[in-house]
Amino acid sequence: MSDPKLAQKQAAAKSALTYIDDGMILGVGTGSTVNCLIELLPQVRLKGAVTSSQVTEDKLRALGIEIFDLNTVGELDLYVDGADEIDPHGNMIKGGGGALTREKIVAACAKTFVCMVDDSKTVEKLGKFPVAVEVLPQARSYVARELVKLGGDPVYREGFVTDYGNVILDTYDLDIKNPSELEKTLNNIVGVVCNGIFASQSAHIMLKAGNDGVITVKF
Ligand code: A5P
Repeated sequence: MSDPKLAQKQAAAKSALTYIDDGMILGVGTGSTVNCLIELLPQVRLKGAVTSSQVTEDKLRALGIEIFDLNTVGELDLYVDGADEIDPHGNMIKGGGGALTREKIVAACAKTFVCMVDDSKTVEKLGKFPVAVEVLPQARSYVARELVKLGGDPVYREGFVTDYGNVILDTYDLDIKNPSELEKTLNNIVGVVCNGIFASQSAHIMLKAGNDGVITVKF
């Protein structure tokens, strides 16, 4: 099926390219918008990349880009990724592709997070898109009950296992009045590995593509 937002994703990715310097070790996210960026990366002479998923890693290796272990590179200058939703403060929901934990780890190690979005992703308040909660398999039912107590409606992502061997509960209907607080509350449930609210690792720069071009927003 063709992606009606493909041209906007490609435009956002082209803008992101201007933040990437030769010789950099780049943090690379996951998803269809990032895939547009990956297609452009042969234009840059990267030293290498740290990836947020096996899928991205495979694509970069196919281009001959060296992959570094995050533990060996220290702080990254830049992490570039997409989002499922982004609010006016740069808080995001991510994890539609299930790579949220590794994305958050790589983002935490980067000085700057550039988020590329098409204009369907910006929202006043996060929460229409479900919050992916990565859970240790044994804790799935317990965590689901705790999410219900918080007002959420968790749906087990059937047939999906994360890069870390865990499962995902896509949680609808959470009232995300305070993204930072809810992110911490979810992390505090025993058995939760990570959740898709990115307030602790919010974006520093948003590149938002619309029909009239790409707007840059700094948070
Ligand atoms: C992957 O787990 C996600 O966090 C993606 O970054 C997010 O879902 C955006 O993906 P698209 O660029 O495909 O919309």
